[in-house]
Amino acid sequence: MDTTVETADRSIGAILVDDGRLTLKNAERIIRLQKTENLRFGEAGIKLGLLSDGDIQFALAKQYDYPYLVGRNGEVSETLIAAYNPFSKRVEALRAMRSQLMLRKFTGESRTKALAVVSPARGEGRSFVAANLAIVFSQLGERTLLIDADMRNPSQHELFRLDGRNGLSSILAGRSDRTAVERVPGFVDLSVLAAGPIPPNPQELLGRPVFADLLKELDSEYDVILIDTPSVADFADAHLVSARAGAAVAIARKHFTRIEQVRRHTEIMNRAGVKVVGTVLNEF
Ligand SMILES: Nc1ncnc2c1ncn2[C@@H]1O[C@H](COP(=O)(O)OP(=O)(O)O)[C@@H](O)[C@H]1O
Ligand SMILES: [Mg+2]
Repeated sequence: MDTTVETADRSIGAILVDDGRLTLKNAERIIRLQKTENLRFGEAGIKLGLLSDGDIQFALAKQYDYPYLVGRNGEVSETLIAAYNPFSKRVEALRAMRSQLMLRKFTGESRTKALAVVSPARGEGRSFVAANLAIVFSQLGERTLLIDADMRNPSQHELFRLDGRNGLSSILAGRSDRTAVERVPGFVDLSVLAAGPIPPNPQELLGRPVFADLLKELDSEYDVILIDTPSVADFADAHLVSARAGAAVAIARKHFTRIEQVRRHTEIMNRAGVKVVGTVLNEF
């Protein structure tokens, strides 16, 4: 038998008992079944109907010191899988992406904080990746800020259930101040600046010096700033945002995104001095 697994499993039981989710007597029943059928603690608990998936995720989260939201109580959208399913395969992939980005961008001498998330067309997963990536960065204890600079089809206020009345557009238009940046409850250190009311002139707003000033200010307050953008092929906004951020990561959706387009926009960005740190293949 694999003793490391056993140790880990035993502490899952201990966590659940300590938390009052499991009685000692039931923990013993689980351990007995676990031994006779050679199961993991969690599997045995579920088989006996004594544990739910939620209990196991809760215990794993504690074990690995992972803050996450318990249950699907509508606090934030279920699309935010990094909050609800931190141990799923998809979130594993997001953590791998986080590691790559840590190595390539968020460490070392040339460390800057802002990173635009860009892709050619709508529906390729920019908002999904930006939001979940922001969550996994915050889970690492990085002071993380997610800015929704997609003032064409904003979505982060919905994903994080913010009212969205104030946001980037209001700051850029001089109608709001930094209080529009909202700390998301339930996460270690995650703040979101929603897009705000849809303005008639997003591109013009992003070109204003106030945007550059805002990013400069935020740079000293956060370790990681991820910026969601509109599709590059439709609007020039993403190029503007990337130029201000200084760096971008490109998303390509498998069997959907035209790679030629990604290449072309990457080239344009490189020429504008934007560091394109990589392309992520989003498969869903
Ligand atoms: N890796 C993924 N796994 C599951 N669903 C995804 C994934 N990427 C995107 N989606 C879903 O696809 C839809 C479009 O993604 P979205 O992030 O809104 O695209 P974009 O911001 O590029 O227009 C959303 O419903 C989103 O939740
Ligand atoms: Mg989007």
